[in-house]
Amino acid sequence: MSERPVLVTCGLPYTNGPCHLGHLRTYVPADFYVRYLRRTGEEVVFICGSDNHGTPIVVSAEDAGISPRALSEQYHAHFDQTFRRMNVVFDHFGMTDDPTNHRRTRSIVERLIANGHVYSKVIQQSYCKKCQRFLPDRYVEGICPHCGAPARGDECDQGCGKHLEPGEIKEPICTVCGTRAESRDQEHYFFRLSRFKEYLLEHLETLSGTLNARNYALGWVRDDLHDWCITRTLEWGVKFPDRDDLVVYVWVDAPIGYISFTEEWAEKNGRSWKEYWCGDKPRVTHFIGGDIIYHHCIFWPALLEGAGYGVPSAVVASGMLKVDDHKFSKSRGYVVWTNDDYLDKGLPADYLRYYLLAYTNHTKELNFSWKMFQERINNELVNTLGNFAYRTLFFARKEFGGVPDIAVSPDILEEIGTTLSQVDSRIRDYEFKTAIDAMMTLAAYGNNYIQTNAPWKLIKTDRNAAAQAVKDCIVLVRALSLLFEPVIPGKAQEIWEMLGNTDQIANHRINDAIEDVAAGPLPVPSPVFSKLEDDFIGEMDRLLAHRVAEAEKKMIKNEMIPFEEFCKLDIRTGNVVSAEQVPKSNKLLKLKVDIGGEIRQIVAGMAQFYTPEEMTGKSVVVVVNLQPARIFGIESNGMILAAGDTASLLTPEKPVQPGTKIR
Ligand code: MF3
Ligand code: ZN
Repeated sequence: MSERPVLVTCGLPYTNGPCHLGHLRTYVPADFYVRYLRRTGEEVVFICGSDNHGTPIVVSAEDAGISPRALSEQYHAHFDQTFRRMNVVFDHFGMTDDPTNHRRTRSIVERLIANGHVYSKVIQQSYCKKCQRFLPDRYVEGICPHCGAPARGDECDQGCGKHLEPGEIKEPICTVCGTRAESRDQEHYFFRLSRFKEYLLEHLETLSGTLNARNYALGWVRDDLHDWCITRTLEWGVKFPDRDDLVVYVWVDAPIGYISFTEEWAEKNGRSWKEYWCGDKPRVTHFIGGDIIYHHCIFWPALLEGAGYGVPSAVVASGMLKVDDHKFSKSRGYVVWTNDDYLDKGLPADYLRYYLLAYTNHTKELNFSWKMFQERINNELVNTLGNFAYRTLFFARKEFGGVPDIAVSPDILEEIGTTLSQVDSRIRDYEFKTAIDAMMTLAAYGNNYIQTNAPWKLIKTDRNAAAQAVKDCIVLVRALSLLFEPVIPGKAQEIWEMLGNTDQIANHRINDAIEDVAAGPLPVPSPVFSKLEDDFIGEMDRLLAHRVAEAEKKMIKNEMIPFEEFCKLDIRTGNVVSAEQVPKSNKLLKLKVDIGGEIRQIVAGMAQFYTPEEMTGKSVVVVVNLQPARIFGIESNGMILAAGDTASLLTPEKPVQPGTKIR
């Protein structure tokens, strides 16, 4: 029985912002992998598309004053074009909001319901009275119930990173109008993910791809699986069956896009999508960012299994990205925009492809800096590969008018063969960096070969020996162009044409590299790679530094509060009438404070710095309209102001009545 055809996908980009280096860190290696498999004769379909649903896109569209569909179409076209410019070429690039995906999603959800994997439950959800709407996901901000950090409605993005279920967030604030949200009952639908524990443990055992994906997922499954709320109160999205007021959660219809886009591709190409998604052991490989392993290794296979589809065979997850040694961050300015900062500056797509693939292992942290980019490109692509190809072809044409009529040395073919098998086994282990190292080692071997044989000297004494050296180098150049095609497809084609070929290099198998080259004329060669100059790199560095500085300014501005906000604080002087240690706490004091005709009980974390005796009788400064809190089970009604880590008390410089307002 012949093996099933291979499907490779890339995580779908959201349509609410332009393409940046973070995207490319996943898409370029996926494209490389697909090109490589094809060069070995494998039939591969390469599928992607844009992810159009979810609250961030609705919020962005509202800001832009256009419909979410219009916003999605804009960014959809943007990604489609940008990927092509980067030589990342999909067989189909669909949209999750297109009818095929609405249909497929509804059908899968109906199947899940029919199979008993979905139940409804009334939950308490954040509701904004002022806006008169429920607040799904990004419409609400508050405090993470797990770690206490400020969080978004759907994830603790600044703290523990946990996914938050609807209604879980504490102290919810409406992000539209800024008022405190209340909780209201609402019926939602849940997917019984917890039922799939055994299934997932088994599935993950045989899941191929990178180890980070499998190991993280195994840890989470062994730990705890809770059911997922799969509906949201939104207009924008795929309607939940029989509930016009609810759409399915974006993480349901987005991965289903992988199937829908395969359907669309199959329809156009007279193929069957079922070959890829139904039956036992489909050969589906997902390339994703390391932040969405949970969704692809746990949630997604459970959905597929629950609905009776085949499950993916491999998940390849990329590591973190840094820019100038800082965590990649759009808001902090540590970002490289694919068009504005790179392609539109006239830089070749293939340079960035090379850097992304050759810098480090796929699952490790990748740091981008313009300086290192310059170094790698100049040393490796320009001085090693480019130099070798140019010297060889220039000399061959000058002295022999083209490819000399002599058979290649057997040890050259052997060298190429060794490289081919190293490259193959490394790529099959998803070790892209070391595979490219092996290619570059062959280029360095070639450079060394031409240098030590020095045909420009030999030609004066032994023309035959010179012809031999040149021929050997030409065969190496040809092998290198074939090997490097998946990495730098545009540049590889240029080298290919300088070898006198007029067809597409991509139509050749990689094993053609172990072949001799026929004698014949060669066209005039030109250097394929040009050096990145210091001036240019310096300019790019300044641009990045400027962006970081601007982002910093903006953040400071964002944190400014208007005077009216300050006026909401009721700060007054007070007199401590009594103080005692809170039992079983070495940090807390329980104070009674006279704030002018009223005695307040306040719990303060200053026991390490002040004794109860020292505190009694002190004049203090109190925020009196802070929401009451229970600290160590004791009610606290206000906050005493103190400075710094030693809790140095603020106290009025001249005596004033307790209850004097502070302004
Ligand atoms: N849009 C999501 C993100 O950027 C990825 C969706 S991938 C899919 O995080 F599996 F849902 F399709
Ligand atoms: Zn509101």
